[in-house]
Amino acid sequence: MRVKAVLFDLDGVLVSTDECHFKAWSRLAAEEGIPFTRAQNDLLRGVSREESLEILLRGAQKTYSAEQKAALAARKNEYYRALIEELTQADAMAGARETLALCKQLGLKAAVASSSKNTRLILQKTGLAEEFCAVADGNCIRKSKPDPEVFLKAAQLAGEEPAACLVVEDAEAGVTGGKRGGMRVLAVGAAQSCPYADHRAASLADPCVAPLLRRLAEQEEEQ
Ligand code: BG6
Ligand code: MG
Repeated sequence: MRVKAVLFDLDGVLVSTDECHFKAWSRLAAEEGIPFTRAQNDLLRGVSREESLEILLRGAQKTYSAEQKAALAARKNEYYRALIEELTQADAMAGARETLALCKQLGLKAAVASSSKNTRLILQKTGLAEEFCAVADGNCIRKSKPDPEVFLKAAQLAGEEPAACLVVEDAEAGVTGGKRGGMRVLAVGAAQSCPYADHRAASLADPCVAPLLRRLAEQEEEQ
């Protein structure tokens, strides 16, 4: 089936927020005396805030109550929000605006499918908010990636069948979610090594992206 909508992950695909997440988690971890490395930060890609905290707390010496965990997650988000408040149009990732313009030109709908509850603020700060026909984010789902819920929601909001959607993801959890949702997946960045992605590119700035989108948008309907 021809692709009619592209469902973009936000963090690491459209906007470079990895460093902001890393700084915010590092500050929290240091305050709590919990070791935290960049390699651990990589494990949090695509994973919800609460699940990310659970991963961080694997290295903690003491156990935390549910209330203490909620307070820790809120503190991390406070640090993170202060950092993303400083984002500007320059923080849109290389190739993001060009890819969105190409989608428009090819008649492909563009939607966001992100685990982040800060999606709206990030889109607004980077000047990308007007580029999408639909936004599904951490506020409208119950199950985080690798569950397909956010992708199915984005497809529904865009008014397209999953089989007519291409997911663009930089997280292994997101590639899994897209495939479980019955969609085609373009893996970028760190997700490129995922064996079950349908297509691969270094980033949206990779010269292979435009011909791929053209091909998928023009593919004949299967008989
Ligand atoms: C994902 C990020 O997009 O959103 C994760 O890749 C992050 O690292 C998750 O934990 C949730 O983000 P937020 O902004 O709701 O804390
Ligand atoms: Mg991501």
